[in-house]
Amino acid sequence: MFKINKKIVVSVSTVAVLSLGLSACMENVSPTKSPVQTKKGIDGGLSYPVINGKTSLYDVNEQVAKDAKKIHYGRVPTAAEYAAWNTDIMPDGTGLPEGEGTADEGSDIYDAKCVMCHGDFGSGGGGYPALSKGNAYELQKTLTNQRLKPDEDGPVRVFGSYWPQASTLWWYIKDAMPHPFTGSLTDNQVYSLVAFILNANEMKIDGVEVDDDYILNRASFLKIKMPNRYGFEPDIYGPKGPENVRKYYADPHNFGGQTYNVKKPASRCMTNCQEPTAKVVYIQNGGISDFHPPLSQVRSLPKVKNTGFNAEKAYTANCAMCHGAEGMGAPVLGNKAEWAAIISKGKSKAYSNGIHGINGMPPKGGSDLSDNDFESVVDYMISKSK
Ligand code: HEC
Ligand code: HEC
Repeated sequence: MFKINKKIVVSVSTVAVLSLGLSACMENVSPTKSPVQTKKGIDGGLSYPVINGKTSLYDVNEQVAKDAKKIHYGRVPTAAEYAAWNTDIMPDGTGLPEGEGTADEGSDIYDAKCVMCHGDFGSGGGGYPALSKGNAYELQKTLTNQRLKPDEDGPVRVFGSYWPQASTLWWYIKDAMPHPFTGSLTDNQVYSLVAFILNANEMKIDGVEVDDDYILNRASFLKIKMPNRYGFEPDIYGPKGPENVRKYYADPHNFGGQTYNVKKPASRCMTNCQEPTAKVVYIQNGGISDFHPPLSQVRSLPKVKNTGFNAEKAYTANCAMCHGAEGMGAPVLGNKAEWAAIISKGKSKAYSNGIHGINGMPPKGGSDLSDNDFESVVDYMISKSK
């Protein structure tokens, strides 16, 4: 987070930082009116129009940013933004509202608002973070993996296996997600989504599995014990606190140390940490031989049956985040007037505008659809908007 000319540089990736560090960095700035008109949504959430072809949540003037001497992109948050962002949900329950939801309900919300970025069951992909990779308790054990040998698995860091506190998840979803409409979820929706994510991580509360119908409410939420709760600091509570602290710091494995030579005691490794016998990649005469992928593993992808192109599915995955609701500056699916204006220019114009991008719509909406498939999706959108 940078503070320039008493302005806060707001970009998509700082939304989360803003919400976490709000009180620390807002002391010197006062809310003013935004030059960009924002629409207030439910629960104080805001949506932002697409301006100058920028699809980000915020209007960033790249031209000025290019000239380092004159950086004054970003703007002072509006009073409504302060109010929407200034929520603290702490591990002890401070700030956590009452409410409830089940994984079953969360699943529907997830499919409507999250799946296009975070993948089926939070599996990730497409550059967006995974929210689960399977059983959290098993995966927590991978965190000390050191990948000393090239073909070993590294640590899996997702919410279930890695995050020390569940309150961060509640807070993060409420404050920062879904990415295009931050702050738009109700408290019950957030409880449902959290239940869904706990379910995807195969987690238990008080020994009870969070299954589809488990009712997650404030009381049960506060009983969540994350598997990695002592992964960042020792358990300092209770009569055994000091003992725990000593034990924790006596074992360098707890904070990144490792042993590759059994005769040597465990020590923090800073240089030449790989086993001397580890296979390396040789580049010879411009080619690579004896290649052993050091960081990734060969994975067999599930076989997908080619059932033909489905325009509706392609729409949901690639277009719905902008065309599915008001407020994104894009013609909304089903809005007859908006689409009539587009159709009146001729379908081929709509195809080519979409393929090459136009005013805030990136080429093909940022998808990697073929021209033909893209046009089928446009046909689908038009047929739904007549
Ligand atoms: C348009 C794409 C998009 C949509 C839709 C979206 N997210 Fe995200 N999500 C992101 C991105 C990008 C990040 C990473 C942000 C960062 O690190 O600054 C993220 C991060 C997260 C994280 C933190 C993950 C981690 O391990 O750091 C959670 C939890 C999350 N999203 C939940 C949700 C939920 C729940 C929804 C639906 C209500 C949702 N997201 C909808 C793009 C999206
Ligand atoms: C990042 C947001 C975004 C995504 C994703 C997106 N669009 Fe758009 N789209 C827009 C915006 C904004 C406009 C309005 C542009 C304007 O006002 O001229 C638009 C306009 C259009 C138009 C009308 C073009 C015209 O001639 O006026 C078509 C057709 C279209 N989109 C199709 C699609 C399809 C198909 C997809 C998915 C494959 C898609 N869009 C994904 C933002 C998006």
